[in-house]
Amino acid sequence: MSINIIAAVGKNNELGKDGDLIWKISEDLKFFKQKTMGQDIIMGRKTFESLPRILPGRKHIVITRKPEIIPEVAVCDNIQELIEKYQTKEGFIIGGASIYSQFIENAYKIYLTEIDAECKKADVFFPEFNKENYIRTVLDEQYDDEQKLEYKHVLYKRR
Ligand SMILES: NC(=O)c1ccc[n+]([C@@H]2O[C@H](COP(=O)([O-])OP(=O)(O)OC[C@H]3O[C@@H](n4cnc5c(N)ncnc54)[C@H](OP(=O)(O)O)[C@@H]3O)[C@@H](O)[C@H]2O)c1
Repeated sequence: MSINIIAAVGKNNELGKDGDLIWKISEDLKFFKQKTMGQDIIMGRKTFESLPRILPGRKHIVITRKPEIIPEVAVCDNIQELIEKYQTKEGFIIGGASIYSQFIENAYKIYLTEIDAECKKADVFFPEFNKENYIRTVLDEQYDDEQKLEYKHVLYKRR
């Protein structure tokens, strides 16, 4: 039972640009689906708005200071309340940058798709975290033929 984080990052921790993802790797989206299916997924309002649709099989919790604008899902404006709740319940923080920054200190597992590419136009980045506090395990190494991208799925698990 813990706060888990999942994100896809470039070599410089690039996360997104212009409100959207930088790289969309279909096999990686399947990894995201497999890890988050059946779980509560917690996200910032901008990430919610960037989703193509409500993701099936997962409870969405959207963090916003304007809850009235999102009637179709659960909303919250109290990060501390969520941190406390997800000490005893499994949940996945799925972004974006502002939300990762506020939860990273409390994350137990961090699943990073580490993409061997850079994006100079990125405008949001995954936060720095103290990797000495985590055991790093490479789960697999992949190659996306379509976009000619090498990437790894890596799990950082708190010591
Ligand atoms: N590579 C990846 O794995 C990945 C994953 C997810 C997202 N992304 C990318 O990340 C970018 C979006 O990230 P972002 O940082 O710009 O936006 P975001 O974190 O998705 O959302 C920001 C919004 O969350 C709400 N919020 C944040 N902190 C809050 C708090 N303490 N209390 C209440 N509400 C709070 C505010 O909503 P209101 O303005 O409504 O109050 C704020 O404007 C996009 O480019 C997206 O594609 C990448």
